[in-house]
Amino acid sequence: MLRLENICKQYDLGDTKVDALKNISLEIKRGDYAAIMGPSGSGKSTMMHIIGILDSATGGKYYLEDYDITALPDKEQARIRNKHFGFIFQSFNLFPELSAMENVMLPMTYAGIPVKERKERAAKLLYEVGLEHRMTHLPTMLSGGEQQRVAIARSLSNDPDLILADEPTGNLPSDKGEEIMEILESLNKRGVTVVMVTHNPSQGKRAGYVIELRDGELCSSSTNGDSNV
Ligand SMILES: Nc1ncnc2c1ncn2[C@@H]1O[C@H](COP(=O)(O)OP(=O)(O)OP(=O)(O)O)[C@@H](O)[C@H]1O
Ligand SMILES: [Mg+2]
Repeated sequence: MLRLENICKQYDLGDTKVDALKNISLEIKRGDYAAIMGPSGSGKSTMMHIIGILDSATGGKYYLEDYDITALPDKEQARIRNKHFGFIFQSFNLFPELSAMENVMLPMTYAGIPVKERKERAAKLLYEVGLEHRMTHLPTMLSGGEQQRVAIARSLSNDPDLILADEPTGNLPSDKGEEIMEILESLNKRGVTVVMVTHNPSQGKRAGYVIELRDGELCSSSTNGDSNV
């Protein structure tokens, strides 16, 4: 599905330069459930941002299917991002003034989906994550686990092929984190490719494929058993 070839990311801070990613080459196949692991500062979020086309590499090539993403104009990159990717972040990133339902509807608004369909689809997605009784709540009226479930519903609103989750359970107690993991796993079983950053070794073991970063370098990538191949 996607392939990174010698991807580098250097942040230029004037007198110092930070090599956040150094020559990363890897492949993620359609249907994979991949975990990115590594110590703080090792480049995990940077890698997620590049894969999600939220940021661009300073070297190397990124192929999505057969498109050379590095060569596409910004507008086309944005179109691919909105149509094919769903994002989940550690801090949920919901709009505080919008209800659960409105947060889930927002990406569909950008995608030009008619309002009736937006509402129906948002309600269905919130139902699927167990929040049918919380549709009109603002994020501040929801628990952390509920907010993250709204974020998952939102990430699914445009029916993505790839979900990118950066420490999705990082701000949650373990039982609520477990609910999030189960939702991600059931999405993967339905065929959605999932790439997740985690610090939690037991979560890493549940992924089919583990990518380990150290100091911006790929230090290992391995397949766990035959869980999803
Ligand atoms: N905008 C930026 N400007 C300069 N340096 C940056 C920037 N963003 C990240 N870095 C540096 O790049 C390196 C990788 O950062 P990144 O956020 O990818 O790490 P991470 O593995 O996600 O860490 P964590 O587990 O703490 O989230 C770090 O050394 C960080 O300080
Ligand atoms: Mg990070």
